[in-house]
Amino acid sequence: MELPKIKILDEFDKTLRKKSMEVKFPLSDEDKKTINDIITYLTMSQIKKYYEEYNLRPGMGLAFIQLGIPKDIFVIVEEIDEEKFENYVIINPKMISHSEELIYVGEGEGCLSVNRDVVGIVPRFARMRISYQDIDGNNCEIRVREDISVAFQHEMDHLNGILFVDKIDKKNPFKDKEKMREI
Ligand code: NI
Repeated sequence: MELPKIKILDEFDKTLRKKSMEVKFPLSDEDKKTINDIITYLTMSQIKKYYEEYNLRPGMGLAFIQLGIPKDIFVIVEEIDEEKFENYVIINPKMISHSEELIYVGEGEGCLSVNRDVVGIVPRFARMRISYQDIDGNNCEIRVREDISVAFQHEMDHLNGILFVDKIDKKNPFKDKEKMREI
């Protein structure tokens, strides 16, 4: 595999604060290429051979805005088995419903745009249902739970210019811990 040439914006870049725009279909060839580049990049970042060779930080999600493109598209690459991956390409997502229950990632969330360790609780819905469009513009729905629910909410925040660090209470990073379940 060849590492795609993509440049991921850092958290201090103001572009990351832009709200992304709804995408019209059909997708341009450029957008399709960007989607494929992101899938390849995220996959390689989770395979030891490649993350060592290219000095990559492992990541499972990227939104277009992190490459400076303000479009409502994000990609998640989940390792479902050893070096076996499932890809989600999500365009124009909208939350339909969510659980009452809140969860948080015990070891903290990470983001390829945030190049530092950040501790603290990021409250997320344990489960949610969203509508979205696939790469061909078909209307779809998906129900997600646990870590994939967290990943989807993290990426949907990017589309609204929000970073996970914004959601951590500055004075008390572990505030309301007892009201949520750790995953
Ligand atoms: Ni992120």
